[in-house]
Amino acid sequence: MMGRISDKNLAQAGKRAHVWARAHMTIFDYILKRYAQNKPLLGIKLAFCLHITKETSVLVRCAQNLGAQIAICSANPLSTQDDIAAFLSSHNILTYAWRDESNSEYNECIMDVIRFDPDIAVDDGGDLHNKIHQSGTTKIMGGTEETTSGVSRLRILHSRKGLAYPIIAVNNASTKHLFDNRYGTGQSAIDGLLRATGLFLAGKRILVCGYGWVGKGIASRARGMGAIVSVTEVDPVRALEASMDGFYVAQLSVCAGYADFIITCTGQKHVVTIGDILKMKSGVILANAGHFDVEIDVKSLYNKDRSPVQVRPNVEQFTINGKIIYLISCGRVLNLVSSEGSPPEIMALSFANQLLSIIHLVKNNKGMRPGIYCVPKKIDNLIAQAALKSMNIEIDKLSKVQQRYQGI
Ligand code: ADE
Repeated sequence: MMGRISDKNLAQAGKRAHVWARAHMTIFDYILKRYAQNKPLLGIKLAFCLHITKETSVLVRCAQNLGAQIAICSANPLSTQDDIAAFLSSHNILTYAWRDESNSEYNECIMDVIRFDPDIAVDDGGDLHNKIHQSGTTKIMGGTEETTSGVSRLRILHSRKGLAYPIIAVNNASTKHLFDNRYGTGQSAIDGLLRATGLFLAGKRILVCGYGWVGKGIASRARGMGAIVSVTEVDPVRALEASMDGFYVAQLSVCAGYADFIITCTGQKHVVTIGDILKMKSGVILANAGHFDVEIDVKSLYNKDRSPVQVRPNVEQFTINGKIIYLISCGRVLNLVSSEGSPPEIMALSFANQLLSIIHLVKNNKGMRPGIYCVPKKIDNLIAQAALKSMNIEIDKLSKVQQRYQGI
């Protein structure tokens, strides 16, 4: 089996990580049991462009067990767990991914996955969908999209009448963004900050740029660690929400000067400019939790100091006019580069949405025109119920009288 990974000898270590994640993603027991007999993905070729993590390996192996043939590449040049890539490759999965790809290698890996000639494209960030559209591949029956940034890009493509196939916006399922974006990234971004720096957070001033689901999660977890948290926002409703959640809300120019840590999570470019950076205090630590490395002006940082010092894994020190600036994970997605991404219990929710949406597409794609679709409510509810069950939580049901009172 061809493909390209860094070291096939890591497959055993990858297997151990896979087994650990699988044990904490019990909803896949239910999905496998439900579909094991009729194998709805038999004969279907799936292309995955996802962060290659232990949790992703659980999704991929389950899809394979339901009959799919699979090719996979990474959704970020720095996020691949090489042991997992080796594990997948050892299971007949065409794997094109290794940690520390250059930008051109990253793009080439996506093209390799497209050359596999897939029926369905499963993406995180929109790079795979984008390249499929550029390459003019017509066979695709549908796709899914995992993240907020990817859904935004696809909406723009659709508004220009350029979308060639139906796409299910997995990100927009309640059981995805309310948990993965908020609590999963909230925890793993703080985890990444701690693993990268090894520093103490209590009493430190942390500025969170953006109060979407990810910003909400990071701000609340940082406060939980005892940090003094400020928030910047451009959306007045979200800014008001951040304020009433008890955070200090102000403009970046006001907060940036005294922050010890600044974490961007806006999905927008040029959030922290070189002009902002030059006004920060010496020793400030910059990190980005958004999908793309466009939020902090990293390019100007590398221009101002062409030989930054790697002071720790994933921490670079820049010296500009005698001032020290630290950058985590090259400004790429903090929680997946300096940590392992959202934990298995959370990714169980996101990836159950993915797998059930893929099955939904296979069964229903004939009636679906190109467009952005929601995950069916039935799937969302089923996943919430399964998650509650795995946590031994039982909830009440409406009585007949209550249903009538509510007009159900
Ligand atoms: N996105 C966020 N966390 C992730 C994880 N653990 N695996 C794959 N994609 C992710």
